[in-house]
Amino acid sequence: MANKWFETVAVAQERAKKRLPASVYGALIAGTEKGLSSHDNLTAFDALGLAPHIANLPRTREMSTTVMGQHLSMPVIISPTGVQAVHPEGEVAVAQAAANRGIPMGLSSFASKSVEDVCAVHSSVFFQMYWSGDRDTMVQRLERAKAAGAVGIIVTLDWSFSNGRDWGSPFIPDRMSVKNMVKLAPQALSRPAWFWTFVKSGRIPDLTAPNMAKPGEKAPTFFGAYYEWMQSDLPTFDDVAWLRSQWDGPFMVKGVSRIDDARRVVDLGATALSVSNHGGNNLDGTPAPIRMLPSIVDAVGDQIEVVLDGGVRRGSDVVKAVALGAKAVMIGRAYLWGLAANGQAGVENVLDVLRSGIDATLTGIGKASIHDLNRSDVVAPADFYRTLGQG
Ligand SMILES: Cc1cc2nc3c(=O)[nH]c(=O)nc-3n(C[C@H](O)[C@H](O)[C@H](O)COP(=O)(O)O)c2cc1C
Repeated sequence: MANKWFETVAVAQERAKKRLPASVYGALIAGTEKGLSSHDNLTAFDALGLAPHIANLPRTREMSTTVMGQHLSMPVIISPTGVQAVHPEGEVAVAQAAANRGIPMGLSSFASKSVEDVCAVHSSVFFQMYWSGDRDTMVQRLERAKAAGAVGIIVTLDWSFSNGRDWGSPFIPDRMSVKNMVKLAPQALSRPAWFWTFVKSGRIPDLTAPNMAKPGEKAPTFFGAYYEWMQSDLPTFDDVAWLRSQWDGPFMVKGVSRIDDARRVVDLGATALSVSNHGGNNLDGTPAPIRMLPSIVDAVGDQIEVVLDGGVRRGSDVVKAVALGAKAVMIGRAYLWGLAANGQAGVENVLDVLRSGIDATLTGIGKASIHDLNRSDVVAPADFYRTLGQG
């Protein structure tokens, strides 16, 4: 059998592109409108440099930390994504990989696996919610997550139902009816390795969202759940404060770009916030989170745990984010490429790539611990940073 190990996340993405049907690959590329934000998320990290030392380098490097009361063997968290048709084991494979590598996992409420199945293989799961449905429904979801064993909540607020991409959106069926299977058959059959993984598992790609089911009801389809979300009121900060009051454990607000919003997130009693633009999938033109990170850390970093997600593909990206003040990063596409390329082992491979990249970067810049990193470790162009919502 060919060696399935890959040496960088970019190689995993190449393998995913070859292995996945075009519409599934397109759903992971995602982005929106012109793709300005998803592009900036990657190029902003590239624009940051590092200043290496050549001697007196540290013999050992410390990279463990804590976020939301959980131990992290390195400053990386699995960001919640609805992975759907990537791999038959989906989020359970991701959770197993995260558990094996000692990092927490955010589980999307639009995931293809239930919170019970995921918490059964990992003790460090943060359940992610959108503002969807009425208050009773949201409380039911919180109670279900707690009963399953979730140790924290992530509420994602940066979504404005933008649709349309200049490069075209992939066809994703509402359900796997015979008609849709016939329509997708040419794509699926052109990717026999992916197709065979599903055949062997005895399943067809599951397009339901089991965590959005009401008690005693069948899991809605992905689009059924999306419709509920679209029909829901848009939350106020008072609503979010109410949601926070319903959960007596760690609580993260994901999607913050502005200082004024970050302050409100502190005021409502959140444990953590993620500086994030949803991987560039939401409001196109939102700058890369790494550009806003220092201003948000300066404003609220002593009152709340600040993490970042968007554009992290390498260990050196993780080091740059931590040097600019993040306690940790969350990764999205990086682990999805690993999952697509090689299931659970592929996700572990991605995490190992990041770990060795963090280690090599710490060595090169002469830092014995991620806790010793600071802004002077990063070389930024003059007009790099952005401060939104000041005053
Ligand atoms: C295919 C896909 C699905 C996603 N689904 C969710 C989701 O259900 N909930 C959520 O909070 N964020 C979701 N995100 C955003 C990620 O959690 C994260 O913010 C983003 O992927 C980070 O950027 P990166 O992919 O460059 O690492 C999704 C992202 C992608 C690419």
